[in-house]
Amino acid sequence: MSKKIIIFFGPPGSGKGTQAGMLARITDWKKISTGDLFRAEILAGTKIGKVADKYTKVGKLVPDKITLNLVEKSLKQKALGFIFDGFPRNRQQLKDLLVIFKKALKKNDQIYAIEVAVSDKEVKQRLSQRRMCACGKVYHLVYNPPINGGVCDICGAKLFIRNDDKPKVIAHRLKLYHDESKYMLGYWQKQNKLIKIGGEQSIKKIHEEIMEKLKGLKLI
Ligand code: AP5
Ligand code: MG
Repeated sequence: MSKKIIIFFGPPGSGKGTQAGMLARITDWKKISTGDLFRAEILAGTKIGKVADKYTKVGKLVPDKITLNLVEKSLKQKALGFIFDGFPRNRQQLKDLLVIFKKALKKNDQIYAIEVAVSDKEVKQRLSQRRMCACGKVYHLVYNPPINGGVCDICGAKLFIRNDDKPKVIAHRLKLYHDESKYMLGYWQKQNKLIKIGGEQSIKKIHEEIMEKLKGLKLI
């Protein structure tokens, strides 16, 4: 059976993590979220975490070498597919990933990128009301609220606000996204591997649209 690689690409707060998680639960493909990997390292207080913290809290990208290292480790898992959330997000990361794929993938394995398009205005609205759990579950106080106030539906832990969800940091993350998005989207478009999704619909509707498009391409 061929391997499937799905890459979620979109601005901060576009719903990449939300949709990547939903797709992973249905397909059993492994989700590789570089943001989640860094947050786990930060929480565990590792050497990588200490470096990552300096960059993430101001909305800068963690150096490519460190990021690539984490991705390579995650790619060693046995799986029929991988779902990338937040990687690759610049030219160097794309170049590095293509080198890895060239070595690791077979001819009939398939790679597609999904663009989740959302306006800057919507990004700011969403991130101001996002709440997170240390287990990785993401909530929105209005669109995707937890059942019991400030605790996680899944593990019961207290929810928190991400330390990069501050207006100034969000503005910087958005700038970085806009600096690279034209090139990155252009690359997947040229390869005829770009699936475009309007991200300003309900979470459920977006999920259904993604499933429909993946089925149409016989990826699931
Ligand atoms: P990362 O964690 O990847 O952050 P990001 O790209 O800025 O994206 P977010 O996680 O903020 O948003 P999302 O698109 O996942 O949206 P979500 O589903 O949560 O990266 C964080 C940092 O780590 C980076 O700044 C960098 O420092 C570092 N890093 C990560 N990857 C790196 C890399 N490759 N290289 C170097 N450094 C890297 O949804 C957002 C909110 O909206 C939630 O509240 C959700 O419930 C809600 N929501 C979702 N969908 C909808 C919808 N359709 N309608 C209404 N609300 C919705
Ligand atoms: Mg995310």
